[in-house]
Amino acid sequence: MAQPLFSIDEARLAAKRRLPRLMFDFIDGAAGQERAKQRNREAIEQLQLQPRVLVNVDQRNLEKTFLGKRWGLPFGIAPMGMCNLAWHGADLMLAETAVVHNIPLTLSTMGSTTLETIHQKAGENAWFQLYVSQSDALAMELVDRAKDAGYKVLMLTVDVPQVAPRLRDLRNGFKVPFRIGPKQFFDFAIHPQWSLTTLFKGAPRLANIETSKHGQNFDRHASRGKVDWGFLDRLRQRWPHTLIIKGVMSPQDARGIAEAGADGVYVSNHGGRQLDSAPPAIQMLPQIRQAVGREFPILFDSGIRSGDGIVKALALGADFVMLGRPFLYGIGAAGQTGVNQIVALLKNEVSVTLAQLGCPNIEDLDGSVLVGD
Ligand SMILES: Cc1cc2nc3c(=O)[nH]c(=O)nc-3n(C[C@H](O)[C@H](O)[C@H](O)COP(=O)(O)O)c2cc1C
Repeated sequence: MAQPLFSIDEARLAAKRRLPRLMFDFIDGAAGQERAKQRNREAIEQLQLQPRVLVNVDQRNLEKTFLGKRWGLPFGIAPMGMCNLAWHGADLMLAETAVVHNIPLTLSTMGSTTLETIHQKAGENAWFQLYVSQSDALAMELVDRAKDAGYKVLMLTVDVPQVAPRLRDLRNGFKVPFRIGPKQFFDFAIHPQWSLTTLFKGAPRLANIETSKHGQNFDRHASRGKVDWGFLDRLRQRWPHTLIIKGVMSPQDARGIAEAGADGVYVSNHGGRQLDSAPPAIQMLPQIRQAVGREFPILFDSGIRSGDGIVKALALGADFVMLGRPFLYGIGAAGQTGVNQIVALLKNEVSVTLAQLGCPNIEDLDGSVLVGD
């Protein structure tokens, strides 16, 4: 029996116990001194919500319409590479969760399951995230594969011109593809639960890269710095469906992206994994909302660790909220059961928060629920 998880922090600790240090640090870590990661969370926690009473909140509705689809909950799963490091089959577990709860799951270019397999499992709940590395040809091949597989939402990540140094990964000797030296061997040996459920089933691979014609000699650390406004124009012409640009922190960039014909911006500082001196993503959200206007779709992530954090991001102008690490903490702790518990606990926290704000319908949430707004 998996232990109950009452908070994301408990899930994190349970994952820390079960995962080898190499894996836990890859998931939990961030760039540099990890100050941006810390600030993301602190900035969200400092925001206060205004309790209201004597409103009938007996029935609450958490469904939200976004990008032309009715979702079961106002939050979804952010793209994360190499999820199968946490547990064999983790990408498929996330896909299952997305279907059961009717939430979006974004499969990363660096996913450990092919985009075709994930779409078969999750249908329109699956979105595809694109990185552009050494080769434009590889990127465009992935775009065409996503189109052929039936994806309707493509997300271009633009905040990784170069993978930032993550000190824990450097110290642990974390490498993709995997290399197992004596240090890693010892780490795996003292975490037998993980080794039995994951390592012995085969080390995770970069499944989308390995199955692409242009995927040879792929280097995860090569520059991704060629992506510019010209590339966005080319991508816009090639991709006929919804196009979201992820990793936007500047109001000026957000306006430019809207003018370039994208269908939404995704405000994020990559969970603090890129620029350690970046401001908290939540701090930029109101200015970006102002820059793109009331109607332009905005997604948000970075630092959400509870249901009231989701409510705060929606109140500050996000249309939809994504989370990254919390789902992998759940999987790291207890596989499919763990990720289901994370969704259930976030859902309950959002619902109880709405009740206390006197706002029974998530679609009616606005800035008036924030103290001092
Ligand atoms: C282990 C891990 C892998 C990630 N891989 C990707 C990726 O492949 N593509 C991407 O756009 N973002 C990636 N991200 C960033 C997430 O999409 C998201 O922006 C971030 O995790 C949000 O912050 P949070 O973890 O505080 O919720 C990754 C994050 C983590 C923790």
